[in-house]
Amino acid sequence: MVIDSVAASILLPQKVNIVEVGARDGLQNEASVSLKTKVALINALSISGLRHIEAGAFVSPKRVPQMADSAEVLKQITRHKGVTYSALTPNVQGLEAAISAGASEVAVFASCSESFSQRNIHCSIAESINRFVPVINAANTAGLRVRGYLSCVADCPYDGATSPAQVAAIASELRNLGCYQISLGDTIGTGTPLRIARMLEHVSKGISFDQLAVHFHDTYGQALANIYQALTMGVNTIDSSVAGLGGCPYAAGASGNVATEEVLFLCEGLGIETGVDINAIARAGWQVCQQLNRTPVSKVSQALRNAYLENISK
Ligand code: HMG
Ligand code: MG
Repeated sequence: MVIDSVAASILLPQKVNIVEVGARDGLQNEASVSLKTKVALINALSISGLRHIEAGAFVSPKRVPQMADSAEVLKQITRHKGVTYSALTPNVQGLEAAISAGASEVAVFASCSESFSQRNIHCSIAESINRFVPVINAANTAGLRVRGYLSCVADCPYDGATSPAQVAAIASELRNLGCYQISLGDTIGTGTPLRIARMLEHVSKGISFDQLAVHFHDTYGQALANIYQALTMGVNTIDSSVAGLGGCPYAAGASGNVATEEVLFLCEGLGIETGVDINAIARAGWQVCQQLNRTPVSKVSQALRNAYLENISK
């Protein structure tokens, strides 16, 4: 009874969409991952109930060699009906390559800070917006939806704190260009719930919550708290990475995205539907971590692993 009245007093979405970014954001930071491992990861994720898997990036191979085989990845995976396999496309060259590889959706990516924009995509924020116009138009003509990422929504590793007004202004520009959803990235994971709430409040004046996603890296362990904050405000799309893989090659020290396992465990506890099988995600994470010779950073993944091992030893 007590629990019911408490639950009823917290406003949360009934259903949340998970955008799994491990195969892109996760693996773009790894020294060398074989094509076979990438394909196996995406195939394992595809049978978990996920409906959106970011499968690669059509960026300069000189800048991010880890993503140079994205076309092969998209060609070799086993596609599942109802699953979107998307890719990053910073310019028309990348878009054309993504289309011929059969990406089912693409994403452009901008920054809230000038220094990060220069380091990440070699141009100013205004130049990046101009560059995205033909990308978005050509993608829409080809029947592909375009997602817009926005980095450094809390802090930039070079320019310091980002103002919520700046985030709101660029997010609205991306939305006006035709991005169907804006994913707000705390690239270096320094945001805390109050700052995230202020930022979301500003952004939501121009863009409705159901057109926003949150993309939190967990460098300072705040990602889940920030997600909870975002959920209470009405955000219903969350980016996450299996086993907490990830980072950004242009944000030194930034750790991986919040782990998908942790988001699923949180949602399950809050009674929010995700449609994703946490055990299938955990298995995909153990498999890829074994290939990468590491332990998953996700505590939920580790706990599920321990429970699984105990169970099979009985
Ligand atoms: P540029 O560096 O300005 O150079 O590229 P360019 O346009 O003059 O081209 C230089 C060379 O790259 C040329 O080759 C081009 O053909 C080639 P060369 O003549 O020297 O042999 N090139 C390409 N090759 C393949 N695909 C392409 C492509 N474009 C050019 N699409 C560019 C600008 C944006 C392409 C480049 O700077 C780049 O690829 N940057 C990569 C940035 C990146 O991938 N960062 C990580 C992803 S973003 C992220 O992680 C943040 C996010 O997760 C959200 C968050 O957490 O905040 C999304
Ligand atoms: Mg990221």
